[in-house]
Amino acid sequence: MKSDLLILSAAELLTAPAGATPLLGPDLDRPLLLKDFGVACVEGTIAAIGPTAEIVRQFPEREAGVVLDAAGCLLAPGFVDCHTHLPFAGTREAEYEARARGERYEAIAAKGGGIRASARQLRDTTEEALADSIRERLLALLHEGTTTVEAKSGYGLSLDEERKQLRALSRAAANQPVEVIPTFLGAHEVPDDYRDRREEYVSLLTEAMIPAVAREGLARFCDVFCDRGVFTVEEARRILLAGSEHGLRPKLHADELADVGAALLAAEISAISADHLLHANDAGLRAMAQAGVIAVLLPGTALTLGLPYARAREMVALGLPLALATDFNPGSTFSSSMPLMLTLAVTQMRLSPAEAWMAATANAAAAVGEGDRLGRIAPGFQADLCLFTTPDFRHIPYHYGADHTRTVVKRGRVVHQRNGASSCR
Ligand code: NIG
Ligand code: FE
Repeated sequence: MKSDLLILSAAELLTAPAGATPLLGPDLDRPLLLKDFGVACVEGTIAAIGPTAEIVRQFPEREAGVVLDAAGCLLAPGFVDCHTHLPFAGTREAEYEARARGERYEAIAAKGGGIRASARQLRDTTEEALADSIRERLLALLHEGTTTVEAKSGYGLSLDEERKQLRALSRAAANQPVEVIPTFLGAHEVPDDYRDRREEYVSLLTEAMIPAVAREGLARFCDVFCDRGVFTVEEARRILLAGSEHGLRPKLHADELADVGAALLAAEISAISADHLLHANDAGLRAMAQAGVIAVLLPGTALTLGLPYARAREMVALGLPLALATDFNPGSTFSSSMPLMLTLAVTQMRLSPAEAWMAATANAAAAVGEGDRLGRIAPGFQADLCLFTTPDFRHIPYHYGADHTRTVVKRGRVVHQRNGASSCR
């Protein structure tokens, strides 16, 4: 049979076992690890995986568009970064320094810094300039092996500015390989001119912003920053139910700064995911497990803000599906590196390397509603793959701060090839 792309002789192929649901409990630590394997891709989809000899019998090399020799390499699914704030304008180094000198994230935000500072920077940026900066960020994260990224608005905080942010995102997403999944996060912060009439901002969100964003097809999910000093559980419930009514599935920034009961709300409304959870209480986590809400862990934020890491081991024991993402944003995590998140997951949250990888691929895909199409190397899944210059999947989190990516494949096409990295090992 003909193929568009053959990847042959991978020293190690790492993937979640066949299926479409997130991995839970002990299964998170039981990926498939296959030696001397190959993959055949046809029309952007994985047609077959198997021992190299079997693949070439079925899909001869002379009938393949492109053949990649993966000898000595690790072949893994492209990372799915299921939580970012990618469309931002400007940076906040002064806050970073202020925190180093002892100021807290919440105190900076209360003074008008934080998200509101980014909102002012966004206002001064054109849609075109914003789209250009997003394009650069997409290219950078692709080079680290991320093939799909969720990206939130939330620095607009008005209908026009949120729209501008989401339109810039959609412009940047066109004609480049990374798949972008947009989320509406108008409820990221109460904007400057609504500080003493927050109720009116919630009504603006539910009655004007959400319907407009949904009507224009600008987002798939609706998210709320439900935390101390931001939106309350009651406000978040109203906003997310309005989102649901307009076809935007709920997600939550939950209990990042304090335990406000956001995890319980995520369970109550069957959110697809609840993210952060640094301070979530046991009852909330148990309810999430029962409701099948995915816990998206963002260890870059705990690193940057000096907060305690999420209780990942306890979450696995409770049967919560864990996903891993960067939270890439100009305030609490200026990194889009999924390999770095693997390192933090292993060293700071005590996930095994295999658990961290599964959380960053199959489970991360499920956290954006794509668990049956992305995040696994299996027949029928989209051919989003990454080759690394090491034969051992544990090497990626272990050897941090180095670039191990050799080749990135999106929809069956080679979209990045690292200079000078022609062979592995
Ligand atoms: O996920 N928690 C809310 N939002 C971001 C921070 C955004 C910012 O500080 O700009 C986060 O950590
Ligand atoms: Fe976030």
